[in-house]
Amino acid sequence: MPVRLLAIETSCDETAAAVVDDGCRIRSNVIASQIDLHRRYGGVFPELASRAHLEAIAAVVDQAMQESGASWESLSAVAVTKGPGLPGSLVVGVNMAKGICLARDLPLIGVNHLEGHIYSHWLDADGGQTSIVHRLEALGSPFPLLALIVSGGHTELVLMRDHGKYELLGHTVDDAVGEAFDKVARMLNLGYPGGPAIQRAAQTGNPHRFKFSRPRISLSAKTARVASDAFLFSFSGAKTHAMHLIRETSRSANGAVTRYTPVNDIAASFQEAVTSWLAEKTIQAAELYRVKAVLVGGGVSANKLLREKLQAHFGVAVSFPPLALCTDNAAMIGAAGYFAFMRGARDDLGMDVVPDLKLGM
Ligand code: KG4
Ligand code: ZN
Repeated sequence: MPVRLLAIETSCDETAAAVVDDGCRIRSNVIASQIDLHRRYGGVFPELASRAHLEAIAAVVDQAMQESGASWESLSAVAVTKGPGLPGSLVVGVNMAKGICLARDLPLIGVNHLEGHIYSHWLDADGGQTSIVHRLEALGSPFPLLALIVSGGHTELVLMRDHGKYELLGHTVDDAVGEAFDKVARMLNLGYPGGPAIQRAAQTGNPHRFKFSRPRISLSAKTARVASDAFLFSFSGAKTHAMHLIRETSRSANGAVTRYTPVNDIAASFQEAVTSWLAEKTIQAAELYRVKAVLVGGGVSANKLLREKLQAHFGVAVSFPPLALCTDNAAMIGAAGYFAFMRGARDDLGMDVVPDLKLGM
């Protein structure tokens, strides 16, 4: 009998539920996206997000159970994202999970969303191909591993020495990289979500026309949470630089985008700069800690240039989950939840959401 988890994820703007066997086999993976709802605001609008989660959650969970072909009796536990994320959104998923655990007498496992992104690399891809970590496991221990988590809410570089053992090596001291993509896309009138829009515009732009200078970041940055400044990131300077470029080139009084604005060159130069910064620090960390593989996750890992830069430099394997597993989903919470469950982790029904949850807590 497999260890079968129902997993729920509502930390941001996707209402998601999945059924996962043994932390790797996806029986179902249902995602109701709110992209259309947030498009007109150019970003996620928290109050609308929680209301949309409430409306969608019961149907999404039902669909995940139905598509899995699994019975409620065959479940071993329910895993749910307890943080980090938007408080009003997290509450919807956590309350749903608690309700199911109470009604079906199942154990509850609260999962860190970032841990979910890391464990997306343990999931079998479509067609049942085993992932890089499974291939490493077949040869012995896959650890140490380095995870780069890059999304609309996160930019974290994490050293993983064993299951459940994380060391935060670096993070952003201001905007998350996906947030910077979204903001620059909005300034350039490219639409939401910004990452794919910038990538598209950059295809016909000159990435070397504008130079975005590399941010100098030291541990004096008030938000720094790490032991060394070597792997800190900052993206707000690049965003401001893009705004100045638009002003300087637009020939309009209010600095808005006009037909003179070299939109594609700005998009390409911005993308070139931020993906270089991410790739360089990731490569340095991978070499320093002699990791066996680099696991890249979060929405920004869909970026083609970032993928190319990471793959071009590496002596170690770089793992990218299939696109559907890079962005927020519940299957990854089922994978992380499985390993926590097997370690004996259990939460009680008094579990609360932790919007600023850190890895390893
Ligand atoms: O992981 P995700 O779906 O949600 C969270 O933020 O947790 O990531 C969404 C982010 C958005 O900021 C979006 O602009 C960015 O991922 N993104 C990309 C690309 N596709 C999505 N950024 C750069 N290049 C892309 N191709
Ligand atoms: Zn995420």
